[in-house]
This record gives sequence, C-alpha cells and structure tokens, in this order.
Amino acid sequence: MTQDELKAIVGRAALDYVTPGEIVGVGTGSTVNKFIEALATLKDQIIGAVSSSEASTARLKAVGIPVFDCNEVEEIAVYIDGADEIDPAGYMIKGGGAALTREKIVAAQSKRFICIADQSKLVHTLGAFPLPVEVIPMASHRIMRQFFALGGKPVLRLKDGKPLVTDNGQHILDVQGLRISDPLGFEAMVSLWPGVVEVGVFAHHKASVCLLGTEQGVKTLK
Ligand code: A5P
Repeated sequence: MTQDELKAIVGRAALDYVTPGEIVGVGTGSTVNKFIEALATLKDQIIGAVSSSEASTARLKAVGIPVFDCNEVEEIAVYIDGADEIDPAGYMIKGGGAALTREKIVAAQSKRFICIADQSKLVHTLGAFPLPVEVIPMASHRIMRQFFALGGKPVLRLKDGKPLVTDNGQHILDVQGLRISDPLGFEAMVSLWPGVVEVGVFAHHKASVCLLGTEQGVKTLK
C-alpha cells in the first residue's frame, strides 16, 4: 500500500469512534483530510465539528459539515487528529502543519484523542522529527538560545522566503536534535518559557488510542 492508502484506511477506521448525534473534534493534516472525506458520509448523522485550523474548517464546510467555535461547545466526545511522531505510550510530536496550538486547545476540550497515522510515525523516543514550537515573534531569538542550551538546533519556519505566520498570527520554530525521553517534563518545562505560545509535544493531552495504518491493515494501539 502507498502512504496515501495507509492514511485513507485509518481515516475510514476512525469513523468507528464517531457516535451519531455528537460534535466531532477534527485535527489538521493529510491524514485528517482522509478522515474528513470519510466523515462526509456521516454528515447527516452528526451535529457538526469543531476544527483545529482554517484549512480543516474550509474542507469541512466544503463537504457540508457545520463547524462550531470551541466556545460554543462544552465538551467534545472525541477528537481525531494525526501526528508527526507517536510513541508506544501515546505521546506525540505535532505541528508539522503549523496548527499545534489550536490542535492542543481542541484536544484539551475532548474526552478522547484518537490518533490516526501511517506506520512511519511510530517511534520509540520522540525527537527525530524537528519539534514545532509556536512563538510570539519578539521572543523568538531568546527561545532559540534556550533550545541551543538544551542541545537543539532551532530554525524559524519560512514560507515563500518569509517567516510563516500561523492561524494565530505567530511564528513557528522547528527544533532539530532533541531526544525527548521525558515528554511530560519536557512539555511542562518549555510551556513555562515566556513567549512560547505552544510546544508541539502532546504529553498531557496524549492519544487514548492510535489507529496505525500498516501493510497488514489498521492496528489499534491503546
Ligand atoms: C498539524 O499541525 C500536525 O499536527 C498534523 O497532525 C501532523 O503534521 C500530521 O500530518 P499528516 O497527517 O499530514 O502527516
């Protein structure tokens, strides 16, 4: 199977976690785009979705799924999203699509996080994927120095030669060279640095279930 087919099978498998009559939390990325295609087949059975990015909002609306603001909803039963890396405990690195802050907000409001990913995303220890960190621009150089002090190599993410601007109007640093052996402690530490909007380690809001697309079909990791 191609990587695209692996993403499609987990996107479809995630429908098993959607209950009719509810509002679904929807993440961002190419795997979630497959889930949105599948969710369109259930659009008359759900109330709608809460979305983690402008890109996913546009896709949801395009297939006729109503999108609600987080503040209009109290608790979301299930949040479906991809990951850049996931370890066997369900800790993840996210933010390759620059949507990590809104993703963590929706995840925090959801009872269950179902991660959908192809097999290439499963790792033993987080950190081979450059860690995305959303930052307030005036703090970016100091935060870069803090990552250098940890042995990381941060770079400002660019788009068309200019700093990428997130849906929240901020910038992204991508930090290479980290080995994150204590995801809970690492997330707590970096979250305290002034100017960090959000760090792409999802440990306090980890996945409850991971649907992993493999050559043998969808594997469910709990
Ligand atoms: C978006 O900001 C990310 O957190 C995505 O969930 C992650 O990058 C996975 O994306 P793909 O499904 O495109 O690999």
